[in-house]
Amino acid sequence: MRAPRRFEPIPESARVVRARSGDRTELWTETVGTLPPVFGERWVERDGTTYRSFEPNRSKLAAALLKGWSGGVPAAGERWLYLGAASGTTASYVADLVGTGGRVYAVERSLRPFARLVGLADRWPNLLPVLGDARQPLEYTGLVPPVDGVYADIAQPDQVEIVRSNAELFLRGPGTRFLLALKTSSMGRDLAASAHLARTEDALRPVLHLSPAVALEPFHRGHYLVGGRVRPGLFGAGPDASARPRAARFHGRRRP
Ligand SMILES: C[S@@+](CC[C@H](N)C(=O)[O-])C[C@H]1O[C@@H](n2cnc3c(N)ncnc32)[C@H](O)[C@@H]1O
Repeated sequence: MRAPRRFEPIPESARVVRARSGDRTELWTETVGTLPPVFGERWVERDGTTYRSFEPNRSKLAAALLKGWSGGVPAAGERWLYLGAASGTTASYVADLVGTGGRVYAVERSLRPFARLVGLADRWPNLLPVLGDARQPLEYTGLVPPVDGVYADIAQPDQVEIVRSNAELFLRGPGTRFLLALKTSSMGRDLAASAHLARTEDALRPVLHLSPAVALEPFHRGHYLVGGRVRPGLFGAGPDASARPRAARFHGRRRP
């Protein structure tokens, strides 16, 4: 496939551009990584900047942007906690979005993908792999500081509870963001995908100012991107403050 002739900015991110290719829209991230490609995506140089194609079939975040997600994405200079990084495909894109001034703490519990994630982090200096179980977030409080956002793609029946407990522990406070690539088939086949989405939103509404969810079809069947900005209520009933990341106190950023 040929490299696009012209890139245009997109309103959702200063580090993502789009290009038209026939009737298709392509997304590209300004990368902070170095070659070779992660999975065969295209890389091009333009005016001293390197871009890589942000593929919706490989990344639910790219699919969400193409499907009209308006709830915000990781921004330059931010710190994000990424749950379920696997071998780092989307985590490397999130690292592109936060740029060299940001950090991505990428949690994965399975050794095989984690080994590939570690190899990738050699080429993405702002990507920090964490071997851990996202159901046991207290175990990595020493490695992950307070963050501006939590992104989760863990495809587990209790994915909502997992992301919520991590958000409670690691988000800096109200107004920070929480994005979940919701895999409805992991939540049981007894309900339709839309019913799982409705239940998830009901569970999150008390703690999040929800953005309109987007269905990730045709790129990812039965998946939605769900999320929004957190309300002060998220931090009310969480783990004891002494368990929270030390950097929270070091940076003087107190939770309510
Ligand atoms: C759908 S894949 C992630 C794909 C990846 N986010 C991407 O877009 O490149 C889900 C991953 O979550 C991991 N996972 C599932 N449960 C987990 C847990 N409790 N803690 C950490 N990782 C978990 C799995 O090992 C798997 O690698």
